[in-house]
Amino acid sequence: MSWWQHAVVYQVYIRSFADGNGDGVGDIAGLTARLPYLADLGVDALWINPWYPSPMADAGYDVADYCGIEPDYGTLEQAQEFLAAAHHAGLKVILDIVPNHTSEAHRWFAAALADAPGARERYHFRPGRGPDGSQPPNGWQSVFGGPAWSRVADGSWYLHLFAPAQPDLNWEHPQVRAEFERVLRFWFDRGVDGFRIDVAHGLVKAPGLPDQAPEADAEGDPAMLDGAAHPAWDQDGVHAIYRGWRAVAGEYLPERVFIAEAWVADNDRLARYLRPDELHTAFQFDFLRAPWRASSLRAVLDDAMAAAAGVGAPPTWVLSNHDVTRTVTRYARSQPPHLVGADWERRRWAQEQADHELGRRRARACALLQLALPGTAYIYQGEELGLEEVEELPDEARQDPTFVQSGFADVGRDGCRVPLPWSGHAAPYGFSPAPVATWLPQPPHWGAHSVAAQRDDPESFLALYRAALASRREHWLAAGALQWLPSPPDVLAFSRGDLQCWVNTSDHPVSLPSSSKVLLSSTTGALGSATGESTALPADSAVWLCRSSRRHAAES
Ligand code: NOJ
Repeated sequence: MSWWQHAVVYQVYIRSFADGNGDGVGDIAGLTARLPYLADLGVDALWINPWYPSPMADAGYDVADYCGIEPDYGTLEQAQEFLAAAHHAGLKVILDIVPNHTSEAHRWFAAALADAPGARERYHFRPGRGPDGSQPPNGWQSVFGGPAWSRVADGSWYLHLFAPAQPDLNWEHPQVRAEFERVLRFWFDRGVDGFRIDVAHGLVKAPGLPDQAPEADAEGDPAMLDGAAHPAWDQDGVHAIYRGWRAVAGEYLPERVFIAEAWVADNDRLARYLRPDELHTAFQFDFLRAPWRASSLRAVLDDAMAAAAGVGAPPTWVLSNHDVTRTVTRYARSQPPHLVGADWERRRWAQEQADHELGRRRARACALLQLALPGTAYIYQGEELGLEEVEELPDEARQDPTFVQSGFADVGRDGCRVPLPWSGHAAPYGFSPAPVATWLPQPPHWGAHSVAAQRDDPESFLALYRAALASRREHWLAAGALQWLPSPPDVLAFSRGDLQCWVNTSDHPVSLPSSSKVLLSSTTGALGSATGESTALPADSAVWLCRSSRRHAAES
């Protein structure tokens, strides 16, 4: 099996991971200094959110130069030193490529604004509608809110599916295709092991940029995160681009890999991105859209595994990332009976109090579920510390363009991007080497969740993740196919070979099989050996078992 088929990938949101130079913003120096932490945690690879020069209109997803490093984060030389150090520590490195749009500060867009010959053809410029052209060319809405079109000085309009500072590229243009293959080679030549592809389903738009079929969404809203059909998303023409990219990856040894971020309608559509000559893997997001309910989780797991198996790709398991509410908080309120969109939690945080301790119990249990599954698992920085969403950031601190573009109706994604607490009892909690204001403020209780506070506590979140990652490596990787076991209502139970995973989403304890030994439990109290007597699995918890005929050291 190749590494990417079973890897645990740790997502580094570089701006908030660790600050090396004391300016309150995470950087490459800080990340490099913390590599021992990541190696010790037991992950296999790092995915780093965009680290390229950017005006930061969308936290780096507005790229001004795809072959450079944002000065706030360091230099190209530091990036190369980091790559060497990560590889030395046994960690693969995946970068984030943003091909759907550039920054407005990209040289191509500057040339387009100056109306240099041919420059506008690399983007989607159109005349407006109406007698004086004052209406946008179509009714598409930006994912962040408001129209997906902005007007330039001479009266024409350009398309931006995200912020106005993120003009969409025209992928029908041969220069766009050639440039991105050059960018891929630039980083592959420097040893990068792969790319996560931002908005992988958005590059090609339906010919003529038609208004959306009225029955699909009356508001013309490209609800990207809900997978609704829209002429901007998931067009068949996108696949030829990825066939070209796969050929570039294949020029390298070992082959470089791609992970698609593609919010498409369902796993069957997603599987099309994973055909043998296209991308290697893709995020399957339903896991993070599922409520804490055994029946919903089981449906999501079955669907994801079947779709991946159909194209010979590993399933991928994501519980959170920099775009969605942190897992602890998602599980801290009443659970809906259906899958939810990425902004679901943000719409109800003011209405229903979050019980973070409940959320943490469930998040610990779900971590054991995630890490017992076949395929690739993603951990978003801070998930291993049990951090919750910082919901009550002051409005003036919020930086996500969603906040402004939604007319302040959606608080946006800043709450999951707050700088990590490393140590100490006062901000910046070891994030910066000096007492500076961090780019997003950290909450007063952050010290209780710091790495230093958890490191030596065997019952901490961090201890659970370290034990689970070590145990996954030792036991689960070779464990074989998943088979569901009979279980009581609201309980998930499956075996893989001699191993079992039990997850109790009900509100009462359930009995575990008596002939098994506990490998690891998400509960903080000891479960004890299950051999010879029936042991109860408490509500909102999970356990890994192995058949007692095999001798495994208990790790809990
Ligand atoms: C998806 C990224 O994860 C998100 O953070 C970003 O805002 C959009 N793509 C636009 O690039």
